[in-house]
Amino acid sequence: MANTLPFPGRHGVNDAGHLTIGGCDALELAATFGTPLYVFDEQLIRDNLRAYRAAIPGSLYAAKAFLTVAMAQLVASEGVGLDVVSGGELATALRAGFPAERIVMHGNNKSPAELAEAVSAGVGRIVVDSHRELLMLDEIARSMQRHPAIHLRITPGIKPDTHTYIQTGQLDSKFGTPIADGQAQQLIIDALNCSSIRLSGLHCHIGSQLFDLAGLEAAMRLMVDLMAETRAATGAALPELNIGGGLGIRYRNQDTPPDIATYAAHLIETITARCAVHDLPVPRLLCEPGRSIVGEAGVTLYTVGTIKDVPGIRTYLAVDGGMTDNPRPALYEAVYEATVASRPAAPATKIVTVAGKCCESGDILIRDVALPEPQPGDILAVFATGAYNYAMASHYNRLPKPAVVFCKDGEAHLIVERETYADLYAKDLPLPRAASVTL
Ligand code: LLP
Repeated sequence: MANTLPFPGRHGVNDAGHLTIGGCDALELAATFGTPLYVFDEQLIRDNLRAYRAAIPGSLYAAKAFLTVAMAQLVASEGVGLDVVSGGELATALRAGFPAERIVMHGNNKSPAELAEAVSAGVGRIVVDSHRELLMLDEIARSMQRHPAIHLRITPGIKPDTHTYIQTGQLDSKFGTPIADGQAQQLIIDALNCSSIRLSGLHCHIGSQLFDLAGLEAAMRLMVDLMAETRAATGAALPELNIGGGLGIRYRNQDTPPDIATYAAHLIETITARCAVHDLPVPRLLCEPGRSIVGEAGVTLYTVGTIKDVPGIRTYLAVDGGMTDNPRPALYEAVYEATVASRPAAPATKIVTVAGKCCESGDILIRDVALPEPQPGDILAVFATGAYNYAMASHYNRLPKPAVVFCKDGEAHLIVERETYADLYAKDLPLPRAASVTL
């Protein structure tokens, strides 16, 4: 029977036989910081940022996948830009001292306040999602006497091969302005006519957790065609193209996503070839990956609690977290690999279903995973939990959010403190005296 340490080379096993992450013993991490605990291999995040930057110098990191002050600082230290999607993400980046000119502001329904915050901060680009937003931003910029540079988010009408909830490039999407019916072309012309904004390029993001590059390539060809049509119609050769994010990662051992260099090389080749067809200068490329930078670097540690055997049916193994720290299985039927951190090299002889502690039958983290005879008190490590886990964590059942630790060269740094009960009710106000009812 195979041992339970998946993804050879990603994490380690030390002399004590324990799982290590960034050179830190997982059992020591659990003892020091408590569980549930989000642990990141900091070097792996840095390696991924470097791989993107080497392939596409205009790379941005999509903050929505995982953002804290320390993460923004790490991204800045690697010379990569930041894609933010809300006033909250922007505020976190600015709080971290992230250079505003390397931030790109996204969002399919930015509020006037968020647009003003982005303009006032002096972000490098604002990605305008709709015609309404274009006019709103032009007006806001005029009133602030600023001239922000923008991209236009275009929906190419390509449906990629991934979970429906994370497809974004199809015509039937809430995001962007479709190429269909000439809407995108009209938006470009209108943007060129706005006096307080500068149109510097186009943007497109067709979906997330993509393994098949064909959909991305088709989208890129359509984007270059649109740029060529723009030049023909207006004489303007737009200098930039943001190709979005979306590269998938290995959640399961058998997953085989393309690596960062291969992904980038394919898309650059597609864009270059299509530009040659139109005799168009190759635009400066930007990209904005999230998952493929932080996903595989993250591991969540839990303490095993009750193990319940339903004879002939299944064994439930309950952990001290669940859909609050990882809603992805409930939302997308996402599948994970796991091991027992004290003996990852032991034979995996017991098949269990890992359940969380929330009051829902749907709070299942992993169905049917083979583990080395788990016992209550063991530390369970769930792999590839770096992207969209902490970012989508909730307080359901009033569970405090876990702490977050970066590990590198055997040293662990706490970058988010564990929440306390007091944090949970910090914003609650008592019932006003006048409204209270005496029973
Ligand atoms: N750019 C835009 C405009 C996006 O909407 C996204 C992701 C990205 C970049 C980054 O995509 P990535 O490289 O991470 O695939 N919560 C879902 C994923 C939602 C993705 C939303 N947009 C999940 O847990 O799978």
